[in-house]
Amino acid sequence: MNSIKFQYIYLKTTFIISSFIMLSACGGGSGDEEATNNTPTSFTVSASAGNGGNIAPNSRSVLSEQTTTFTLTANEGFAIGTVTGCGGILSGNVYTTGAITGNCSVTASFTALPPASYTVLATAGNGGSIAPNSRSVQTGQLTSFNVIPNEGFAIGTVTGCGGSLSGNVYTTGAITANCTVTVSFNFLNNIDQDALLRQFDGIIDLSKLENYANQKVPDYIGDPRDNDNPVTDAGATLGRVLFYDKKLSIDDTISCGSCHQQSHAFSDPNVVSKGVAGGVSTRHSMRLINTRFGHGEASTNPRFNVVRMFWDARANSHEDQETAPIKDHNEHGYSGNPPSN
Ligand code: HEC
Repeated sequence: MNSIKFQYIYLKTTFIISSFIMLSACGGGSGDEEATNNTPTSFTVSASAGNGGNIAPNSRSVLSEQTTTFTLTANEGFAIGTVTGCGGILSGNVYTTGAITGNCSVTASFTALPPASYTVLATAGNGGSIAPNSRSVQTGQLTSFNVIPNEGFAIGTVTGCGGSLSGNVYTTGAITANCTVTVSFNFLNNIDQDALLRQFDGIIDLSKLENYANQKVPDYIGDPRDNDNPVTDAGATLGRVLFYDKKLSIDDTISCGSCHQQSHAFSDPNVVSKGVAGGVSTRHSMRLINTRFGHGEASTNPRFNVVRMFWDARANSHEDQETAPIKDHNEHGYSGNPPSN
C-alpha cells in the first residue's frame, strides 16, 4: 500500500520535473530555431517610368542582401533623365540596385530632347509679300526672309521669332521653337484725304467700304465671270461713284445713271435715251442687273463661256461693253467727232 503510494508520488514528481525541463527548452534560445529555418527571405523591387520611355521589368523578387538590375529604354526624342530608389546606380541604360533589405521601388524619368529643327512660317498682310513662306531651321540657328512691298506700299512692321529688319531682309533670332514671322505693309497714301472727305463725307464711309468683292451668291447664279479682273471693294466703290459722274461725258451733262436710272431698274422709262448735246441713243437703254454674272451661255469650252452684252450680244466682256457708251457719239460723246443729232 505504502510502496504503491510512493510509486505514485515518484512518477508524479518525475512528470512535473520533466515538464519543467521541456518548458524551459521551448522558451529558450531562438538562435537555435533560425539556424534550422532554411527558407530564404525575399523582397519585391518594383519599377516605374514617367513619360518618354520605359523600365523593365516592372518588378522583381530579390533575395535579401542581393542586388538586381533594370533596363531603361527611352522613346524616340527622349533621353534617360534620372533613376532613383533602392540605393542603386545607373550605368548606360542599366540601373543596378544596392543590396536589397526590404521592399522598395525604382523610379525613372525621361527628358524630351529638343527637335533637330523647327519650322518658321512667314505671312504677309495686304500690300506685299514675304519669301519664302516657310523655312526649316536647325535648333539655335538664325534664318532670314525677304520682305517685298507692292508698288504704292511700304514695309510697315515685321514681327515674330525675335528678329530684326535691315532694309528689306528680316533676320530672326536663334530659333528654339516653331514660330511665325508676320509682316504688314502701309499704303503710300498720295491721295488728298481732305478732298476725298469734302466730296464724300457722310455719303461713303471710306474707312469701311461695302463688301462688293465677296458677296454671297446663291448657287443657282454661279460664279461671277470676272475675266481675270477681280472685283475689289475699292474698285467697285470707285465704279459706283463714276456711274453718276457727269464729267465722264464730253459736255458734263450725262452720266451712266442718266440712261440707267436706279428708280427704273437701271433702265429708262423712255424708249430711247437722251445723250450729250441733244443726241439720243439708237436703242432702248437696257436694265442693268447682276451683269457681273453674265448673260452668256456657260460652256465646257472656255472660249464660249462668256458674258454677252447689248441687245445684239456684241460685247463679250464688261471691259468691252463699258467703254462703248463713253465712245458712243450720242451717249458720252467721246467718239472723236463733234456731237450731232
Ligand atoms: C445715252 C444713254 C446711255 C448712257 C449714257 C449709257 N448707256 Fe448703257 N446702254 C444704253 C443703251 C441704249 C444700251 C443698249 C445698247 C445696245 O444694245 O446697243 C445700253 C447697254 C448697256 C449695258 C448692257 C447690258 C446688258 O444686259 O447687255 C451695260 C452693262 C451698260 N449699258 C452700262 C453702261 C455704263 C456703265 C454706262 C456709263 C459708262 C452707260 N451704260 C451709259 C444707254 C446708255
